[in-house]
Amino acid sequence: MEIKPPVLTIDGPGGSGKGTVGQRLAWKFGWEFLDSGALYRLVGLSATNKSIAFDDVEAITKLALHLDAQFAVREGVHGAESITLLEDQDVTAVLRTESCASAASQVAQYQMVRDALLERQRAFRVEPGLVADGRDMGTTVFPDAQLKVFLTASAEIRAERRFKQLKGKGVDANLAAILADICARDERDKNRSVSPLIPADDAIIIDTSDLSVDDVELRVLNLAESTFQQELIAE
Ligand code: DC
Repeated sequence: MEIKPPVLTIDGPGGSGKGTVGQRLAWKFGWEFLDSGALYRLVGLSATNKSIAFDDVEAITKLALHLDAQFAVREGVHGAESITLLEDQDVTAVLRTESCASAASQVAQYQMVRDALLERQRAFRVEPGLVADGRDMGTTVFPDAQLKVFLTASAEIRAERRFKQLKGKGVDANLAAILADICARDERDKNRSVSPLIPADDAIIIDTSDLSVDDVELRVLNLAESTFQQELIAE
């Protein structure tokens, strides 16, 4: 039987902390990190740049199949930082905007678009292992993952986290508008017919509403060490 590299999937809604926790653990383990949301955001951004309507499924699928994107690490003022390039342009900051998130959620509704990104996502599964962050990592992309975690938090808490994050960056934010965006995106992600946002049957669900990022990281780290039966923190 083929032995595939280990995968830890972390799924959940936006603002549940999955991106931060996933990235930190991948870094600590020395594993690959897949930010699958970034791929959908890149498709949404590319469609916007090329004035392609989000419901033009054929054109969006073509974009997804031929997406010219790169994930790289560069030395920033605070040390190493990940950057994302779309057709050689640095789109790291614009990718994090609410309009990109909304575009991503709209193009992500279509089976053809999702299928177009499937192999690209699976290609991240290499030795010594992969931490994959998204909505359907445990259900569709890596159904055979050895450890599946699903993070949740109330919409209000997630909106507050986002609000603080934006304020911290000096961005003028409105809590009520952020909450409305989060609820709209949740509805669309949960209710779509293909790969909806639901935990895999064998996922471990952690409600992060009353936990700090450090607490969540520690819990997932403990789960990973017992599942993969190894010390994962490379000093
Ligand atoms: O994780 P994120 O906020 O970057 O994701 C942006 C959108 O992309 C999200 O609202 C739905 C979509 N998405 C998806 O459908 N499947 C994934 N695996 C990841 C993201």
